[in-house]
Amino acid sequence: MQKKWWHGKTAYQIYPKSFYDANGDGIGDLRGVIEKLDYLQELGVEIVWLSPIYCSPLADQGYDISDYYNIDPRFGTMAEMDELIAKAKERGIGIVMDLVVNHCSDEHEWFRKACQDPDGPYGKFFYIVDRDGEHLPCNWRSAFGGSVWEPLPGHPDKLYLHTFHKKQPDLNWENPAMREEIYKMINWWLDKGLAGFRIDAIINIKKVLPFRDFPADRADGLCSISTMNYHAKGIGEFLGEMAERCFNPHNAFTAGEVFYVSDDRLPDFIGDHGYFSSMFDFNETLCNASEKGWYDQKPITPEQYKACCFESQAKVADFGFMSNIIENHDEPRGVSRYIPAGECTVRGKKMLGGLNFLLRGLPFIYQGQELGMENMAVSSIDEVDDISARDEYQVALNAGCTQQEALAAVNMFSRDNARTPYQWDDGPNAGFTTGTPWLHVNPNCKEINLAAQRNDPDSVYQFYRKLIKLRKNADLEDALIYGITVPYRVEQKNLMAYFRQGEQHKVLVLGNFQPQAQTVPLPGAVKKILLNNCGTAAITGDTAELEGYQLLVLEMA
Ligand code: GLC
Ligand code: CA
Repeated sequence: MQKKWWHGKTAYQIYPKSFYDANGDGIGDLRGVIEKLDYLQELGVEIVWLSPIYCSPLADQGYDISDYYNIDPRFGTMAEMDELIAKAKERGIGIVMDLVVNHCSDEHEWFRKACQDPDGPYGKFFYIVDRDGEHLPCNWRSAFGGSVWEPLPGHPDKLYLHTFHKKQPDLNWENPAMREEIYKMINWWLDKGLAGFRIDAIINIKKVLPFRDFPADRADGLCSISTMNYHAKGIGEFLGEMAERCFNPHNAFTAGEVFYVSDDRLPDFIGDHGYFSSMFDFNETLCNASEKGWYDQKPITPEQYKACCFESQAKVADFGFMSNIIENHDEPRGVSRYIPAGECTVRGKKMLGGLNFLLRGLPFIYQGQELGMENMAVSSIDEVDDISARDEYQVALNAGCTQQEALAAVNMFSRDNARTPYQWDDGPNAGFTTGTPWLHVNPNCKEINLAAQRNDPDSVYQFYRKLIKLRKNADLEDALIYGITVPYRVEQKNLMAYFRQGEQHKVLVLGNFQPQAQTVPLPGAVKKILLNNCGTAAITGDTAELEGYQLLVLEMA
């Protein structure tokens, strides 16, 4: 595998709306990110991914873009964006933006023009079909519920396709003129000095054509959009072209949001000849997922977590880098999800963070993860902002759940869990804003906040700093960056253990994924304890006695 500039770095995701509000209107902004650059530098991250800040009606919190070339005034100005890129660069941080090109907003000029003249050039930027009575072209369900087909505004005789919300019409990638517009836009941003892109919902750009039905998987007679994704062939043509025209000439870093790719196609996506630098590993997030909806998804156990991580590591082996996460803006908080209920302690948070962070690949930290921020339950669906959670609530009710059961499912999986404002301190609104925050602040900000953790050597925050520093340790690069992952004692229950094996060094990571102590035989002599989330390490001869939720990172002789 060729070495790349980004391999040894740690990435950090900012959800700008909830990060820091510099002007007191309750919405986080670019000025807020600029003001916190010193903080990001102190943490040690070197790639920062910003969720969308382009002009948008915010129907899906910015993932519905109405102008790719401008910053939404709620987030700031283009001058501030340029300032952010420049000031980040001074601190050794590369800025990565979100690239949302499966769809745009129904308020984008292209869609407006398509509505004015569906047979004109912009009509061909979308999937617009003539209506055939009540019969729909296909039975695909949009990701946020209901059919993917919607009447074209102003044209009751026509329909347009949206695989997400109806305010997010899908762009027609089969149209070369549309692709040219996208490549022009990507290059315009990269020329400004962006380090790269996180690429949204990219697997959806290839459709099964001509449109056809798949077997229904719910009582609504529709099928999950993932069924369509699975059957769509030929996406490589678009992705290869985009890489060649945009990413490769700029030596850009790209992380694809890629679902449902078969194992044999992985080398086409990442690695030396991949369309992307990296792609996210969603194996753990998809564990126990049900076609019926969130209400039917069982919590993941530590044993399942371990199996999912190792499965992904084995698939990629040594040819590429996955991007490893425990959470993002679409998922609940990792500590609330992967640590069994009632066992979520500071120690457990560090262990989970360490186990994930040290896997082979590129670690992404989502804002607040480095503080151990947790889910926030609400007591009524009216308090929920997330459009996906609102849909899943209805799905649960339709399936016969009580309101209480439906709300329980929402509280477990709602995307709002990770979108509550960043907890800077224990003051009003956790120091996020002097105004009224756009989304509720988690009341646990009194205990969980940066100010309390910054000078505490035993905090989750300081532990993440150590992890990042360890990764930067050039001596161990052969093992910690490029070494393969070799699972150790997989059969030992609630022990997640693996080697990172390089040409010169061998590191053993041990995590005791339970509150009770357990004994682990060691495969050889320990040269050095690189990291420990407990006060002491009981290593005698060839055994380690791990305390509950202890994490040990050992350099082996
Ligand atoms: C991706 C984003 C998510 C968004 C969706 C539609 O999954 O991460 O937040 O809702 O795409 O753009
Ligand atoms: Ca603001």
